Amino acid sequence: SNMMKVAVVGGEGIGPEVTAQSQRVLNWFAVKRGVPMTLREAQYGIIPYLATGKVMPPDTVEAMEEADAILWGATGGPETKEVPAAARKAGSLLGLRSKYDLYANLRPIVAHPALSDSAPLKASVLTGVDFVIIRELTSGIYFGEPRGIETLADGQRRGFNTEQYTTDQIRRVVRAAFELARTRRNKVCSVDKANVLETSVVWREEVIALHAAEFSDVELTHMYVDNAAMQIVREPRQFDVMVTGNIFGDILSDCAAMASGSLGMLPSASLGPVDRFGRRKALYEPVHGSAPDIAGRGIANPLGSILSVAMMLRMTMNRPEDADLLEKAVASALSGGARTADIAEAGAKRLSTQEMGDAVLNALDNVAARE
Ligand code: NAD
Ligand code: IPM
Ligand code: MN
Repeated sequence: SNMMKVAVVGGEGIGPEVTAQSQRVLNWFAVKRGVPMTLREAQYGIIPYLATGKVMPPDTVEAMEEADAILWGATGGPETKEVPAAARKAGSLLGLRSKYDLYANLRPIVAHPALSDSAPLKASVLTGVDFVIIRELTSGIYFGEPRGIETLADGQRRGFNTEQYTTDQIRRVVRAAFELARTRRNKVCSVDKANVLETSVVWREEVIALHAAEFSDVELTHMYVDNAAMQIVREPRQFDVMVTGNIFGDILSDCAAMASGSLGMLPSASLGPVDRFGRRKALYEPVHGSAPDIAGRGIANPLGSILSVAMMLRMTMNRPEDADLLEKAVASALSGGARTADIAEAGAKRLSTQEMGDAVLNALDNVAARE
């Protein structure tokens, strides 16, 4: 059947708070637009750990296994210190990315005009910002071996990790970047540290070779990662598609959040390989984490999670018009003045997480009625 299965995993910290709002949005699309889907909620993190000894209990594993798309909230926070490292590792987000080979992590950065007064960067820098970071998500220093902590003969401790990239690991994610660029402004900027790191030398040479062989119609540039961090806040409009490795992409995407106004605004999609039926496993989650400093207060911005639902509608459910509708509704809620604390100007009214969800649902009704 064409019924899409979605596993909803709120997780820890503000994860469940923001995910509750995206779940309302998903329900709206099921009921009001007839998008065929079933939602299965599953627990992750400290709560199931205390009850069962597992952060990712069997029911959650099964829900994700059968799912076409996983809607993920967040993991982490101080209370999770109670979970021993082995139990945490047995059910980690990194393990999930690895298990489903979710190698292509798309993190779109869009500056909403309505936010230019509250954003940390000047409106003149933000106007028109619209780019996508594609972060390699299943290799690099996050997964390279050997890794570990050892005690040296003189009693010092030494922690070590291995940055590594192979031809195939590079080419498949860079291919995704070139293909995405062809649907946009046809520009790819590859970010590396090829002046220092051998992994980056190989990365850059593979990018150049793939470009010459198959994507010479796409404009390709290269940038060192330190300069890229600076250029993202100096002149973010120069970028269309940026492609980079795992750890550089992690750091640059939080940095790029400032080109959208707030980390709470950024969605993401993590995509696996296409199988023989043309399907691919996908996990959708906001870029932010569990935000322990604001968790439990009902004030987190749910828009990063809600915009991840738009990515799910577009990329898993093949509903581009519904994805557009949701993005328009978010823009309309923002231009109508809806603001959580992270995107509010001094003195402006601040909505709760739930009220921001209400604002998006109202905007969905209104935008849908106009169309
Ligand atoms: P964080 O992203 O949780 O928070 C960074 C800052 O941004 C905080 O001040 C927070 O309040 C703010 N913020 C984040 N999301 C927000 C939102 N939706 N609305 C308003 N403000 C928001 O990063 P951190 O504090 O470095 O990490 C906290 C925990 O989250 C750590 O355990 C980390 O490992 C984990 N983490 C998990 C994920 C994930 O699940 N994908 C991602 C990043 C960090
Ligand atoms: C992210 C997070 C994760 C990462 C953490 C929680 C492992 O920061 O999704 O950006 O580093 O990939
Ligand atoms: Mn991160």
